[in-house]
Amino acid sequence: MAKPVIIDCDPGHDDAIALILALASDKIDVKGITTVAGNQTGDKTLNNALRVLSYLDIKKEVAQGAVKPLMRDLITAAEVHGESGLEGPELPQPAFEKSEKNAIELMIDIIMNSDEKVTLIPTGPLTNIGHLLLAHPEVKDNIEEIVLMGGACLGGNWTPSAEFNILVDPEAADIVYKSSIPVTMCGLDVTHKAQVFKDETERIRSIGNKASTLVAELLDYFGIFHMNPNFSFDGPPLHDVCAVAYVLDPNMFVCKKHNVEIDITGELTCGATVVDYYDTSGKDKNINVVFDLDREKFINMLCESLEKYN
Ligand code: RIB
Ligand code: CA
Repeated sequence: MAKPVIIDCDPGHDDAIALILALASDKIDVKGITTVAGNQTGDKTLNNALRVLSYLDIKKEVAQGAVKPLMRDLITAAEVHGESGLEGPELPQPAFEKSEKNAIELMIDIIMNSDEKVTLIPTGPLTNIGHLLLAHPEVKDNIEEIVLMGGACLGGNWTPSAEFNILVDPEAADIVYKSSIPVTMCGLDVTHKAQVFKDETERIRSIGNKASTLVAELLDYFGIFHMNPNFSFDGPPLHDVCAVAYVLDPNMFVCKKHNVEIDITGELTCGATVVDYYDTSGKDKNINVVFDLDREKFINMLCESLEKYN
């Protein structure tokens, strides 16, 4: 039986590839897609999700979520994803409208009417999830797990100590991390290892269908920012794809449970996911932290999923 999931995203190049991987799998059933402001404004991330689905001739319920964080001004990432949020590939305008429900209403509808507990896969700032849990705690009993892309045990990519998704909305992340729902955190420790090398991008391009061509073009653009010598990457890191890949095959990853808390007040460390790696606090080990992956298996999973598209 396919696992029911909701993907909450801010497309964004890696979000788009994560969606493409998820939609190809018969192991998961994408019950709905919700969008959040992050990589770009809320209208742009919604439009990008609709455009990717339209390009692939796939129709899913897509609901718009928060256009700004719970308490803070929005930070976007045009320098990474471009003005549209999905610069590079030529994509059609949406072939269908967004849901009449907003993201919270759609998530409640799916979660409360599912016979099986639902897995949430947030790949952007956690604003929608934080709002959902704050306003409707009754959903917690029917959530299997939250498998998110965000945070890091070591360092940050938007400040020296904070990863972008958590930094954009640390208050929302704090709600999620304190929710007592099982949370698996695919942070930079693993996602920076999930790089796609140049020959692998060409392997993807050579698959030669619409989906693989789109992924190759997304990787081409995503690589521009990440080939900055400051990063010493050999290819763009597929942050969000790790979260979906973990749901599809957790055995591909190396994880350990630790206490993780969100810093929401620090001057230099606001937005940090403080991972108690050596258990110095003795506090509850509330988060399953992902540290490593079998990168070749990860690339093969992506390629095999793309081969399923026409
Ligand atoms: O820090 C990486 C995360 O920020 C990814 O989810 C990327 O899409 C951006 O949202
Ligand atoms: Ca994202």
